[in-house]
Amino acid sequence: MRFDILTIFPRTFESYLNESIIKRAHKKKLIKIKIHDIRKFSKDKHKKVDDVPYGGGAGMVMTPQPLHDAIKYARRYNKGPVIFLTPDGNTFTQIKAEKMAKKSGMIFICGRYEGIDQRIRDTLIDEEISIGNYVLTGGELPAMVLLDSISRLIPGVLGKEQSHEQDSFSKALDRKKEYPHYTRPAEFKGMKVPKVLVSGHHKNIAAWRKSKLK
Ligand SMILES: C[S@@+](CC[C@H](N)C(=O)[O-])C[C@H]1O[C@@H](n2cnc3c(N)ncnc32)[C@H](O)[C@@H]1O
Repeated sequence: MRFDILTIFPRTFESYLNESIIKRAHKKKLIKIKIHDIRKFSKDKHKKVDDVPYGGGAGMVMTPQPLHDAIKYARRYNKGPVIFLTPDGNTFTQIKAEKMAKKSGMIFICGRYEGIDQRIRDTLIDEEISIGNYVLTGGELPAMVLLDSISRLIPGVLGKEQSHEQDSFSKALDRKKEYPHYTRPAEFKGMKVPKVLVSGHHKNIAAWRKSKLK
C-alpha cells in the first residue's frame, strides 16, 4: 500500500512515522509513505501557498496552483483515490478503514487555514473524509489517523501477538465496542479479576466477554 501525503508541514510526520508498528511496516515494505511539501510546487516567487478569500472574511485559503501541481505529481506514482481531509467530509469509521485497506494506494491532502480552493475540491478530489465533528488546525493529524488505522489492517503489519480481528467495531464483535481486559496480578489494590476469567472454562469466558460488548 502506497500513501502519498501532501502537506505544507512535512516535518510534522517525522516522529510518528519513525516509531513502532508504522516504522516496522515501512521497513518490511508492507507500506510505502511519501510526504510531499506542497510549497515546493508553488510557482509564486515567494513560494506562497495561500491567499485572502474572495468575498472577504477572516482567514486565508490554500491557492489552487500548488495543490493542482502537487496532486498531478503524486498521481504519477499513486493510482489510488485522492482524499481531502476536511471536517465537512464523510465521517471515518472502522468499516471505511477496512475498505480502504484493500486498495493499492491513496493520496491524502492536508488542508490548513480555512481550507483549500473549492475548484480543487470540485475537480481533483475523489473523496472527502472527516475524523469527527470538531475542527483541528490542519489535516496532518487526520492523515496520520487514517494512515495508522488503515495500515494496521494490512496483513503482516501487526505482529503475531496483536490482532485487529477482535477489536472494537470489528465484524467478529458484531461492530460493537470491546469487552474489558485484565492482566496479572489477579488482585490489585483489593480489586479482583472476574472469577470466570481465571476459571479456564473457555465457553464461559467467551459468553462473559460477549455479555460485556457495548
Ligand atoms: C482550521 S481547518 C478548516 C476548517 C474549515 N474552515 C471548516 O470550517 O470546515 C484547516 C484544515 O484542517 C483539517 N481538518 C480540521 N479538522 C478536521 C477534521 N475533523 N477532519 C479532517 N480534517 C480536518 C482540514 O484539512 C482543514 O482544511
